[in-house]
Order: sequence, then C-alpha cells, then structure tokens
Amino acid sequence: MRILVTGGTGDLGGRLVPRLEKAGHDVVVGTRTPSADDHLRYELREPPPSLDDFDVVVHLATESLQPEVDLEGATRLWEAAAAANVSYVVYMSIVGVDDHAFPYYRAKAEAERRLTESGVPFTILRATQFHRLIPRFVDEIAARAFFVPVPAGVSLQPIDADVVAERLEDLVGQGPSGRVDDLAGPEVLSLDEMVDDYLAALGTGRRRIRVAAWGQAVRDFRDGKQLARPIDSGGETYTEYLATVPVRRPDPVAASLRIVSAAFFAIMVWMLVSPANFHANLAGFGDFNSHFIRDTGTFILPLAIVLWLAASRSSWRVPVLVTALIHNGLHLVNHMVDVANTDPAWQGPGNLAALAVLQIALWRMLAVARTSNR
Ligand SMILES: NC(=O)c1ccc[n+]([C@@H]2O[C@H](COP(=O)([O-])OP(=O)(O)OC[C@H]3O[C@@H](n4cnc5c(N)ncnc54)[C@H](OP(=O)(O)O)[C@@H]3O)[C@@H](O)[C@H]2O)c1
Repeated sequence: MRILVTGGTGDLGGRLVPRLEKAGHDVVVGTRTPSADDHLRYELREPPPSLDDFDVVVHLATESLQPEVDLEGATRLWEAAAAANVSYVVYMSIVGVDDHAFPYYRAKAEAERRLTESGVPFTILRATQFHRLIPRFVDEIAARAFFVPVPAGVSLQPIDADVVAERLEDLVGQGPSGRVDDLAGPEVLSLDEMVDDYLAALGTGRRRIRVAAWGQAVRDFRDGKQLARPIDSGGETYTEYLATVPVRRPDPVAASLRIVSAAFFAIMVWMLVSPANFHANLAGFGDFNSHFIRDTGTFILPLAIVLWLAASRSSWRVPVLVTALIHNGLHLVNHMVDVANTDPAWQGPGNLAALAVLQIALWRMLAVARTSNR
C-alpha cells in the first residue's frame, strides 16, 4: 500500500515508518522540511498535498502548543482524504481527551469527532504519554533555567513509543477499525517522580521546584483524566527507558561562567547592602565611593548578566567571553599603570592580581568554549 505518514519524522513517526517499510509498504513521510526522496512537504497550517496517490494516511503531525493549528490541520486533512477517496485514515490520539479542559486535548477530541463525521473510513488509537514526553519538556526548560517547575499532584502513565508504533503498524494492516482499545503504560507515576528521575539520570545538577497551578485543565490532570486502567502493554518501563538516556557530560564552561557571574553578583550585593563593610574589608579605599558604584553599574552588573546567560546558551559563549576578555584586559592595563600606587591602596598589586586571575580564567573558558563549539 502507498501510505502517507504525516509527522513521520517525530518520536512515534520515526519508529512507525521503518516498520511499515519493512512490511513492504510504499511509505511517504509528510514533513515541513523534506530532505529525502520519500519526503513530501506537509504543513498543518497549509492545504495538504494531493492525496490522490495514497491508499492510507496516518496522521501523526502535531503542534501541541498551538491546538487551533493542530485541529485546523487535521480537519483539512480529513477533507482532503475524503475528496481523494483515500481508503482510510489512521489517527493517533490521546487517552482521556473526551472531557478534558486542556486545550490540546480538547483539539484532539474535536479532531477525532470531525474524523468520525468526515465520511472517510478511519481508525483512531489513543495512547497515554510516551516515555520521551517529560524528558523533552525538561530538556527545553533545563536548557534555560536551573529549576524545572512542576505542578503538584499530577500523575501520568508513560508508555514505550515502540509499543505504540507496533500497534499502529498492526492497525494500518487491518484496515479501518473505528475507535480501537486504548493503549496505556504499565505504571502510574507522579510527575514529580518522573522529572526527578530524569534529572537524576542526566546528572546535570538541575532541580525540580513545585509551582502553584490552577484552572480546570490542571484540576483535570490532578483528577487523572489522562490515565487509563493499568495495562501491561509490554515494552520498556519508564525506569528502563531512563537507563538508556545518555548521562550528560558535565559542562565545565557553564559551571565556571556561573561561578564568575555569581561572584560578581555577590560583590555587588555586598557593596550595596553594606558599603562600609565592603570598603573596609575588600577594596580599602575608606569611605563610600560613588565612582566604584558607577563602575559596578556599567561594568560588573552587565558582565555578570551576560556571563550567566552565556552559561545556558552555548552559542553566546564565544562572543561574550571575547568581549569580557577585552573588557577585563583593558581594566587590567589600567591597573598595571597604577601598580606602584599605595594610595589609594585598591590601585595596588592586590587588585591587579585579582584581575589577572580573572583574565586567565576567562581565557581558559574561551579556549574550552571554542573547542566545544566546533
Ligand atoms: N508524545 C506523546 O506523549 C503522545 C501520547 C499520545 C499520543 N500522541 C500523539 O501521537 C502523535 C505523534 O506524537 P509524537 O510525540 O511522535 O510527536 P512529535 O515527536 O512531537 O513529532 C511531531 C511531528 O509533527 C511534525 N510537525 C510539527 N509541527 C508541524 C506543522 N506545523 N506542520 C506539519 N508537521 C508538523 C513534525 O515534523 P517536521 O518537524 O518534520 O515537520 C514532527 O515530526 C501526535 O498526534 C500526538 O498527539 C503523543
């Protein structure tokens, strides 16, 4: 059979397509960015390509953050399938969408309803969340923040996406079957546990934090509408899946950037909260010094901010570190000129040495950042 798999590049699609090919089907992958002979441009926001040549359409393309796009895309696809007399459509949906206030789930339920009324023969399979869902969400957040916010009281029932792909392959072979039995993972896990276990598996030192969340969608998640009865669907458990997640190598540049940035912030806070104490203990120029405060506003604060941001944005690191090196280098030269000065004392060798150490640290970080960006 000639089969179009929209979203064939995704988590589930990437597992289904090779299975269908192995079973001898002529499979075309619908994707926004075609890059191979068996790819066809497909975009949820646009009219679908002609489906005249296809026997079956498996619809997996999705935009969970834009439910209205998801629904409109699905609706257009059902219309195109009806017009092209496609033999049947297989639609992947989610357990518990019927009565759920979460907008994405409402869109999936409505897409199911429209498919059943489209006149196209169909199969609808619902499954619980795939193992990779929470790790993907955590990755997105952990790339930008130190803490991963999680609402309390939510549980999921994660399932091995290979099991779903296997079931879909069978369903494609069976022909239109209507709404079939749901597929659900073997264990119900709290979201807290899933996030903690993934963070531990990664070893990046990120932490989960509880956040307050409210609204009907959150209540529906807390009520467990997305759960099915426990079913031993086979395949890997979430714990087994996590054991296959590669541990992230520690990122020494990120850690160093955060340490330097945090040191700058600490100095600023010390200076602002207790200037007398700061001047007495660190920079011995006696009384409150407005010049030094202005230096902080124009030099230390911006540097601390960009160094902190560069820790989580690897593409920023080289430009930020080059700028910091030039900045600190010129500052160093300025202090070299006054190295013999003992009045005021802060222009003397102590401060020069501190700036030199910082310069070496920035230089080392730049060298490592350049190597890891290659
Ligand atoms: N993930 C879960 O936990 C879960 C659970 C139950 C059911 N499902 C359902 O299973 C299906 C597949 O989920 P998945 O997790 O495999 O999805 P995924 O990995 O997020 O992949 C989504 C696919 O959709 C395509 N896509 C995204 N935006 C698009 C757009 N605007 N136009 C056209 N294509 C677009 C992407 O392809 P390109 O980037 O190549 O265009 C990608 O291949 C979905 O229907 C989902 O609702 C998922």
